[in-house]
Amino acid sequence: MTGPVLPLGGVRYAFHTFGCQMNENDTERLAGYLEAAGAVPAGSIESADLVVINTCSVRAKSEEKLFSLLGRLRSLKKKHPFLVGVAGCVAQVRKDRLPEPKSGVDFVIGFDQYHRIAEIAAESRHRKMIETSRRRIFREDPVPPVRESPWSGYVTIMEGCDNFCAYCIVPFTRGRERFRPLSAILEEVRGLAAKGFREIQLLGQNVNNYRDPKTGTDFAALLSLVAAVPGPEWVRFLTSHPKNVPPALAEAMARTPKICRQLHLPLQSGSTAVLERMKRGYTRERYLETVRTLRSLMPELRLSADIIVGYPGETEVEFEETLSALSEIRYAGIFSFCYSPRPLTAAAGLVDDIPPEVKRRRLAAVQALQKDIQTAFHQTLLGKVEKVLAVGRSKKDPAVFAGRNEGNQVVNFQGPEDCLGRFVDVEITSVGPYSLRGRMLTR
Ligand code: SAH
Ligand code: SF4
Ligand code: F3S
Repeated sequence: MTGPVLPLGGVRYAFHTFGCQMNENDTERLAGYLEAAGAVPAGSIESADLVVINTCSVRAKSEEKLFSLLGRLRSLKKKHPFLVGVAGCVAQVRKDRLPEPKSGVDFVIGFDQYHRIAEIAAESRHRKMIETSRRRIFREDPVPPVRESPWSGYVTIMEGCDNFCAYCIVPFTRGRERFRPLSAILEEVRGLAAKGFREIQLLGQNVNNYRDPKTGTDFAALLSLVAAVPGPEWVRFLTSHPKNVPPALAEAMARTPKICRQLHLPLQSGSTAVLERMKRGYTRERYLETVRTLRSLMPELRLSADIIVGYPGETEVEFEETLSALSEIRYAGIFSFCYSPRPLTAAAGLVDDIPPEVKRRRLAAVQALQKDIQTAFHQTLLGKVEKVLAVGRSKKDPAVFAGRNEGNQVVNFQGPEDCLGRFVDVEITSVGPYSLRGRMLTR
């Protein structure tokens, strides 16, 4: 007996994913839908019948990456035909521009249409498809995602953002805040625990705002419930907004050993005046106060942040306040960017008045200072033993394993073949500004 004909039976698919962890998780979800429709992984873009690009729009450069990849795909398409789909944040905001006749794009799919990807891809064999209409509620996937890692699992708890920071396009791409029901979150976590996942990463643009739509359970309570699911040893989450780290959240972290002593808390700028112009909703002093509270409860907490330099009107004095904040806070790691004007945002109406060379100089100063801070911090770790989840091989040397410590820092180490997917103790034997290396101790 033969089953029903699947819309993508035998189609070889590949993804190219730009952007944040939300996009990585969305790619896993989209792959789940494609496989449910009969598609199989291609292994590479070159051998695929269907290529889906999951895009990021957060800076102009992020968008440019899409357009250069599309150029590459157009020349590949001359050698053999295949379908090209565009998903993610650029798809949502540039839906009209993308499918121009010469773009090589066959379909554009918005976030709230992801459950229809198989049907849309199949139909795009006949006509260009633009499916980007939005809905406000959280939709559960009826098919499981195809997960990249068998050990560390992403679990989305909310989507969208209502903060409208003046520079940021995300509220326009991802739309308004929507919360996933607590029961569905816990069910997914239990499912991952049953499969032997070691680490759970809760995801959302603004996780601290979480409220269960039915019961009102808040984020601190959700964290405790997730940590109470037996099995996974580590729970982490991102992204938190600094204006909203209530004492209950800090206390839930402090009393729950399974919640990693690690927090990504984007500062953006060390100047209260700039933060106000960015509409961030906190001052430098309040941010520092939050850091003090967190560290008094968890002295070993490893903090990281995002920094923007060259925001409109940023004076030299204001910029130096970012440097002094970095010196004061001493992050374990930062992501730093030059301000990039984005369409639709409030700041798009401001003059982008900081010349590119000044932005670049400020970015270099931020990165040089942070490099010194990290070098000094890493030196204090020499000889110490860190618990590491071994997740893969080193990018540079396949004989070396790569893992992450509780602080989410990459640790490369020599170890036996069977260490993958295990928590191992690694003695740190050498350090650089951006890396930790060591040897595995047998437990
Ligand atoms: N919800 C998260 C992620 C936002 S995007 C958060 O609030 O942190 C990730 C980072 O990109 C931001 O923290 C910010 O530092 C940076 N970013 C966003 N818009 C930007 C822009 N227009 N120019 C430069 N950097 C930007
Ligand atoms: Fe963007 Fe601000 Fe929302 Fe983060 S909190 S996604 S920076 S608008
Ligand atoms: Fe980029 Fe969209 Fe994430 S703009 S950072 S992929 S939410």
